[in-house]
Amino acid sequence: MSRLVVVSNRVATPGESRAGGLAVGLEAALRERGGIWFGWSGKSVREGGGELHEAREGNIRYVTMDLSRTDLDAYYNGFSNRTLWPLLHFRLDLVDYDRNTRIGYARVNALFADKLAPLLREDDVVWIHDYHLIPLASLLRERGIGCRMGFFLHVPMPSADLAAALPDHARLFSTLYAYDLVGFQTLRDVERFQDYVRLFGGGRVAGDGMLEAPGGRRFRAAAFPIGIDTDQIATEAPRALSKPTVRSLRESLRPRELVIGVDRLDYSKGLPERFRGFARYLERHGSRKRGLTYLQIAPVSRGEVAEYKLLRTELERIAGHINGSHATADWTPLRYVNRNFARGTLTGFYRIARIGLVTPLRDGMNLVAKEYVAAQDPDDPGVLVLSMLAGAAYAMREALLVNPYDLDGVADAIDTAARMPRDERIERWQALMAYLRENDIDAWCRSYLDALMFDVPRKGAGKGT
Ligand code: ADP
Ligand code: F6P
Repeated sequence: MSRLVVVSNRVATPGESRAGGLAVGLEAALRERGGIWFGWSGKSVREGGGELHEAREGNIRYVTMDLSRTDLDAYYNGFSNRTLWPLLHFRLDLVDYDRNTRIGYARVNALFADKLAPLLREDDVVWIHDYHLIPLASLLRERGIGCRMGFFLHVPMPSADLAAALPDHARLFSTLYAYDLVGFQTLRDVERFQDYVRLFGGGRVAGDGMLEAPGGRRFRAAAFPIGIDTDQIATEAPRALSKPTVRSLRESLRPRELVIGVDRLDYSKGLPERFRGFARYLERHGSRKRGLTYLQIAPVSRGEVAEYKLLRTELERIAGHINGSHATADWTPLRYVNRNFARGTLTGFYRIARIGLVTPLRDGMNLVAKEYVAAQDPDDPGVLVLSMLAGAAYAMREALLVNPYDLDGVADAIDTAARMPRDERIERWQALMAYLRENDIDAWCRSYLDALMFDVPRKGAGKGT
């Protein structure tokens, strides 16, 4: 069997508990199969960069690389997170385009290629992840690497017109033509990418569904919705109830029920709108005896990026306002916490929550929605309120689907969830759980790698575009 080499900006090195779907998903995928995980070390150095560090755990070899402060600013804080992230989340209003950061992004991708190329063997299968590393395959091919290479975009693919609003868009997106397989979260993302290739990318969709780049190179684009380790979370959840942090949360809530939100502090997650939706619920339905307490866990993410700093300030203001208006001497309706928790503890929090509130304005998939469902008690499950603009909503139709911009709709869904009879909760949960069991993280990994290894012809794969 070929060796698997996974490449991503963020690497979950042994012992780390990190928020972010990519790290969580890839950790589970590599644990099963073994291989190399190559990426950024998470450290910046004053000068230089490119030093490699190695670690091993079980059958995974971790190779990580430091980046210089200047490179990190341009590549990660700049082009990845101030240009591409908003663009890919349909937020043209937040896109900050700067030639210097674009050049820094290209420079760091070239550094990845220089450091990775010597580690590769001819029969390796290289699987590159997410928007930080779009050009990496084309740079590796320029360095003579001919092995199979796949890409997976964890975030949404925007519509063709939005993608084409990026200055120099073709220079970036045409580097995707160097892969053998480009994976997306949903079929809608694939369709939007095909539109882009046809309308702005100079390529075409061939009769057999393969994509053809301007020079004639053929590659495949397909949907592979990422899953979670469903059985592991379902097994862990009842055990997590005995953890001291989970018990004390439960005791502190009585007699009220818990509504939970767990998200990186990111504007794509729709947190201001969600807070306001909850406030609307309190205004309209708050007198009900069955009171609710909403716990929002939102660890700070990309804290050096201006838009994220502003969001943090805004959320503190809204949370203060909601509690100032609705709290009583013995009840704080909104508890807002900016920290990471051990994964087992989070699972326990999900288990005791009557409602899971997952309302991003845009999300590639959203693993929290899936984790919340997997952690429920089969005999008395909670209800998932899910944004119809998250990739997860394409298959999770038995959740209460909401438009996250519609505050009244969110308030109504909270009310419906709080009053939903047990039989209906069980019926919805069973359908969701059957889906999550069948489409778990192993299925995701297997279906992607099978497609990369067996479904794409290799003709013309030797040279980059
Ligand atoms: P994204 O990849 O945009 O962050 P996802 O919902 O797909 O969004 O994935 C988030 C992952 O990070 C989930 O697995 C979730 O459990 C984890 N996570 C989020 N917040 C925390 C936290 N405070 N502590 C630990 N893990 C977290
Ligand atoms: O899942 C989407 C994603 O952007 C990953 O690529 C990333 O690792 C994760 O969110 C968390 O963001 P960051 O790595 O910037 O902390």
